[in-house]
Amino acid sequence: MDRECGTGARLASIRSPKLARSKSSPPTPGSKYYAGFDAGFVADVIEYLALGHLSLLLDPWNGAGTTTKVAADLGIPSIGIDINPAVVLIAKSKLLGSGVAESLDALTHEVLAHARSHVDFSSTRDQLDQRFTFGTSRYLRSIERSIHHLLVAPGRTLGFSTPESLDAISSLAASFYVVLFETVRSFLGAYRSSNPTWFKSASVGDVSVAKDRVDSRFRAIEARHHRHLNGLATVTETPEGRAILRLATSTATGIKDGAVDACITSPPYCTRIDYAMMTRPELAVLGLGQKTVRELRESIIGSPTVVKSRPAEDPSWGPYVHDFLSAVKAHNSKASATYYLNYFVQYFDGMHRSLNEVRRVLKPGGRSAIVVQDSYYKEIRFDLGRALAEMAMECGWMEVERMDFAAPHRRANMNPSARQYRAGAVATESLLILS
Ligand SMILES: C[S@@+](CC[C@H](N)C(=O)[O-])C[C@H]1O[C@@H](n2cnc3c(N)ncnc32)[C@H](O)[C@@H]1O
Repeated sequence: MDRECGTGARLASIRSPKLARSKSSPPTPGSKYYAGFDAGFVADVIEYLALGHLSLLLDPWNGAGTTTKVAADLGIPSIGIDINPAVVLIAKSKLLGSGVAESLDALTHEVLAHARSHVDFSSTRDQLDQRFTFGTSRYLRSIERSIHHLLVAPGRTLGFSTPESLDAISSLAASFYVVLFETVRSFLGAYRSSNPTWFKSASVGDVSVAKDRVDSRFRAIEARHHRHLNGLATVTETPEGRAILRLATSTATGIKDGAVDACITSPPYCTRIDYAMMTRPELAVLGLGQKTVRELRESIIGSPTVVKSRPAEDPSWGPYVHDFLSAVKAHNSKASATYYLNYFVQYFDGMHRSLNEVRRVLKPGGRSAIVVQDSYYKEIRFDLGRALAEMAMECGWMEVERMDFAAPHRRANMNPSARQYRAGAVATESLLILS
């Protein structure tokens, strides 16, 4: 298809957004992390929206970066926004072109050799101390510093909590950070809890791993990533330049008015998934302190952390949201009228401000494709698609088309005690096209 003058396809021909999980194929880099939809689905929506090399595509909740990766492979310029620096790096790492594959072995050797000769045993507190013994924590940190020194900024510490510091990280450096993320995570089995998004806390780190074992795990994970890159042998040119990955919030993206042709995204659902806690080991590798992580949790839409000053309810959220909030308020279960009400109000406030922001940055006539999933509060079904469709009309969109796909109710509510309310429930995943 000529993407500069694509005519688009029919809505009904778009494949399900549900991730196709294959047991036989090895995991791809970054695939351990939460992804909202499947690459094939994104390609279909790009075709449906008739986007081409001159279009600019936005994903304001880019997560593990499926939208920006697919767009880059198709030669379509894109911007991926996420508020979590760990997932910004994961999304960046996916843009690494196979052209660098041959230098990766030598670079891995250099990173580990530099780390061995520069272990810093100073007693400054480190987030990695919460899980690892002092010696292991310091060695893991020396690998992180070595990646930074060799691939980011020699002799300087940039940090990872500002957009500028993330901009300075290439997809090559990001891919080494992702190897370190997976290495660290691979040693944390004892800290897993029954909730897949949560790592148990500990008063003192007790995981001790010898340096040789850390090195061989790091090399093995890097080799797996490397094989994946070789599998992409046809891509010789790095697609990195065609995607901008930015640390920002969906409520204030910093993009100019009317700069974007289309948006393809999957927002945080209304299910109390704690995206910051989910990436706790990665945030520790990046050295983000407790205060920064707490601030991150408070700014993430849909996170269970409720801020002290609850935003005011707004009639422009639409009648469906209004009725849902009234039902929550009136529910007789514990904390419905307090914590849960606050949680939902905060969620709708974030989504409403984000929809306004997306509309601001879209060109007149631009369209947004949004994948949503319904969920339950106790026995009350919440149709996020309907809520967002009403909000979108209030924000000034003219038309909403909707296509539903049945999905197993895997992540619809992460609170195990709520499961009794929804035995046998089938979640609906929906695609909204806002015009
Ligand atoms: C459902 S995931 C998106 C998945 C993504 N579409 C993919 O395929 O990988 C939601 C993402 O929204 C991000 N997020 C939550 N609140 C945000 C905010 N205020 N601004 C930007 N990103 C936010 C989370 O960090 C998370 O990565």
